[in-house]
Amino acid sequence: MTRIAVLLSRYSGRGALIAISMLSVPSLAQEKLPNKPLLPPGELGAWVRLGEEIVEKTTEHPLSKPFLGNDLNCTSCHLQNGRHPSAGSFLGTATAYPAWAPREQTVVTLEDRVLNCFMRSCNGVRPPLGSKVSIAIQSYITWLSQGESMRMNPQRPVGPRAVSLLAAKPDSGSLERGRALYAQRCADCHGADGKGDTDNPPVWGERSYNDGAGLAKVENLGAWLKVAMPLDDATLTEKEAIDIAVFVNSHERPRFELSAHLPPAAETGVYNGEKP
Ligand code: HEC
Ligand code: HEC
Repeated sequence: MTRIAVLLSRYSGRGALIAISMLSVPSLAQEKLPNKPLLPPGELGAWVRLGEEIVEKTTEHPLSKPFLGNDLNCTSCHLQNGRHPSAGSFLGTATAYPAWAPREQTVVTLEDRVLNCFMRSCNGVRPPLGSKVSIAIQSYITWLSQGESMRMNPQRPVGPRAVSLLAAKPDSGSLERGRALYAQRCADCHGADGKGDTDNPPVWGERSYNDGAGLAKVENLGAWLKVAMPLDDATLTEKEAIDIAVFVNSHERPRFELSAHLPPAAETGVYNGEKP
């Protein structure tokens, strides 16, 4: 199957339908029905669609490609273009911002949050504030919060459906058990060498997320794996998820240095943060 066929078939999958019906977010098919103007009309609706396209095809889209440094699309982690109810969900996300960000030691906007994922998870360069790519993605993510109540997050910059950390602690994980489990549950798709292929993204190495990304922390990766992987069969126990996270994150990946990911100040506008 081509990548697009895989994505389309996932849209019609059960997970996507549950996510969609929970929040009355339309499926692509429903959007086409007459008398159901679910996208905002006119230009705004077009920007929402453009944002979803970029989230899905980040590595290929001409507006996002110049800012990327690896082979991951936003949807590689924000499953089903962020419509998945728990695996990197964008449903309700916009209601949490502006939010306090302990890492940056400041209050960040939804725009900052979007742009920061380019630098870390996508190992790329932060696009300029107010750029087309930034506004399109924000329009799409905000649309996925239509009708939900605002509740700005005073603790961390994540929305109401953010992945919760597991009770199993990261230092309880076993590299050896993780290695065996990876071979059984993950290697078919992501490869024994972690490099993936055209349909499956790399999970370590030069083309994967860098060591400043959220998933580079074992506790975050374990929590995300628990709800996200194996794809369409997320049945790992907490212990297994932590073991596998220890194994995956024991490999080399690009190093993160903030200065290397910020364009010259005149091009980026303000970087809303102090610390790397
Ligand atoms: C390597 C995986 C990965 C990739 C690729 C990635 N992100 Fe993220 N992103 C995360 C994780 C992990 C979080 C924390 C979310 C959580 O705890 O549920 C996050 C958080 C976010 C948030 C805040 C979500 C919230 O609940 O408030 C936004 C917005 C976001 N990412 C946008 C993007 C965009 C846009 C892209 C593509 C340009 C992208 N991300 C690519 C892993 C990734
Ligand atoms: C059936 C194939 C399949 C299996 C099995 C699978 N994955 Fe994935 N995985 C994917 C696909 C495809 C994506 C990207 C999601 C998308 O684009 O919709 C992904 C995304 C990821 C990501 C985030 C993006 C990245 O590359 O860093 C990680 C991490 C990951 N998988 C780890 C695992 C681990 C660990 C296992 C085993 C527990 C596993 N996967 C099992 C297909 C699979």
